[in-house]
Amino acid sequence: MLFPEYRGRRLRATDNFRRMIRETKLSRDDLILPLFAVEGNSVKKPISSMPGQFQLSCDHIVTTAKQAKEAGIPGIMLFGIPDKKDCLGTQAYAHDGIVQKAVAAVKEQVPDLTVITDVCLCEYTDHGHCGMVMDDGTIDNDSTLDLLAKTALSHVQAGADMVAPSDMMDGRVAEIRGTLDDEGFSHVPIMSYAVKYASAFYGPFREAAESAPQFGDRKTYQMDPANALEAIREATMDIEEGADIIMVKPALPYLDIIYRVREEIDLPVAAYNVSGEYAIVKAAEMMGWVDGKAMIMEALLSIKRAGADIIMTYAAIDVARELNN
Ligand code: PBG
Repeated sequence: MLFPEYRGRRLRATDNFRRMIRETKLSRDDLILPLFAVEGNSVKKPISSMPGQFQLSCDHIVTTAKQAKEAGIPGIMLFGIPDKKDCLGTQAYAHDGIVQKAVAAVKEQVPDLTVITDVCLCEYTDHGHCGMVMDDGTIDNDSTLDLLAKTALSHVQAGADMVAPSDMMDGRVAEIRGTLDDEGFSHVPIMSYAVKYASAFYGPFREAAESAPQFGDRKTYQMDPANALEAIREATMDIEEGADIIMVKPALPYLDIIYRVREEIDLPVAAYNVSGEYAIVKAAEMMGWVDGKAMIMEALLSIKRAGADIIMTYAAIDVARELNN
């Protein structure tokens, strides 16, 4: 169809026409809110590079979880910031660890909110890497797997509804699946950060979670941003190992990857609108340069249009409230 027979503007002319033919709709059902748990009481410490986000003690985690529930979000994702770190990341799998306590508190007080936990060691290791560090500074894959499985198990024993391994060690989904099954948790799903790139967009998160690597970088385990076919291999491998949901991370600079994974994979696809994506919008908004609210809506809609079923975003509560209006 060519102009003048076809006039695209006809169906853009009114809000009602636009509503009728809208192809993609963002819903509060799509959203998951990540939260950072710290030890203590009544702690609500602002994260400077993520305006509106805080390190929260368990009481505030519960308050925020209630707000998330009231806004209609189906789930939250918990990260922990322990008081003490060591080379084995012991606090990651401690039964009285910070995430374990936060999960228990939320499940007790907001039982029908789904609690997902991030399973990784980088917040808990003194070197800040996601795996065990050898004497020569390399990251050891296989000796990390057992610790990740122990971490996931301890989260589930504390009440977590789903675990989300984000470490990028090879074989960790199978190890976690096996451990959960052996311990009577075959019903608990795994959302794998299967396609996770070594990204500069994680910068603010590392301030928030106090998890920056103390030497080197994460390029020997996180993916090279140049690679797309590898995303399909990573996703396929994690599915074979027992993943229930495949995550792509970051989201906005990787919309093509979300699209490809959606085309090739028949599991639900999640996308993580990461800390740097959030910080960019907030910073420009604070400068008065952009309409931050509208930008976030457009960004999340784009992530959904690219093929994501689930979106992890720090703006989840604000967006859900906006969608409710
Ligand atoms: C832990 C982890 C990271 C993020 C989620 N889980 C940081 C990293 O891998 O360096 C980043 C989330 C964000 O930037 O919002 N491995």
